[in-house]
Amino acid sequence: MRIAHISDLHALDLTGASPLRFFSKRFFGWLNLLRKRRAAHPTELLDALCADLGQQPLDHVVVTGDLTNLSLPSEFRRARQALDSLSFGPKAVTAIPGNHDVYVWGAYFGRTFEKHLLPYAQSDGAPEHELPTWPIVRKRQGVAIIGCSTALPSPVPLADGWLGGRQLRRLEEALDSTRDHFRLLLIHHPPLPQHLDVLRALRDRGRLHKLLRRVGCNLVLHGHEHRDLRGTLEGPQGPIPVIGAGSATYNHPLADRRARYNIYTVSDPGPTAPFTIEQRVYNPTTRTFAPAPTP
Ligand SMILES: [Fe+2]
Ligand SMILES: [Fe+2]
Repeated sequence: MRIAHISDLHALDLTGASPLRFFSKRFFGWLNLLRKRRAAHPTELLDALCADLGQQPLDHVVVTGDLTNLSLPSEFRRARQALDSLSFGPKAVTAIPGNHDVYVWGAYFGRTFEKHLLPYAQSDGAPEHELPTWPIVRKRQGVAIIGCSTALPSPVPLADGWLGGRQLRRLEEALDSTRDHFRLLLIHHPPLPQHLDVLRALRDRGRLHKLLRRVGCNLVLHGHEHRDLRGTLEGPQGPIPVIGAGSATYNHPLADRRARYNIYTVSDPGPTAPFTIEQRVYNPTTRTFAPAPTP
């Protein structure tokens, strides 16, 4: 089972965006977009990413949030178009939201992410048009993919996240009922205590840590920080690996921050299956992704 982990696509498309939409937190986001983000996540890089994914032998792709910048409908359409362009199909691609996908309360209550990305964010067996209840659970070839939402609109300059009591209870049930699988947990905000930036933190991470100590998990994947991060959390049978992927579309001058994604190979998936990691990094000279140079 080969699974690509991509994150923080930040698809940009302001087509048809009404100025009225910017009388909100989006105004500050829009200024940031014009100042930095437009060049930071160019759409050519999103196209190069999709082309590269299409050339890899993969069984599944997971996307850990921030598919957009300002959660505008035009940006969701652009992100959806990118996922639709992959040949794998929605059953083989799983997406969860990040804080940029619920940038304003209208997107949160309007469930804009869920409406635009529904085929990529549905639990197995869910009715076709029913919006997801988080976490979602999808079982594929011995791997249980469990996707959370930590996305919450927060005032400038916060970019924090929250799971909430109800979701944590459902998450414990989901992890408990999939113990016979390789359990892969997707979450946008980093759950590791050492990656705590008070403005960008997962607020109820302590409750998640306790939950994982009780029920365990094989691997936790996250995004949000636009950099490679690695650590562990305590589990009932030993440490649980927690791996953050850099942004898959980041046009950063520093080589170690440049657009990248990871591919996990889970051999003989099951509750104790080992896995290996490969990384592919964007090369601005060739404008293609290639295996990360060995350190
Ligand atoms: Fe992001
Ligand atoms: Fe984020």
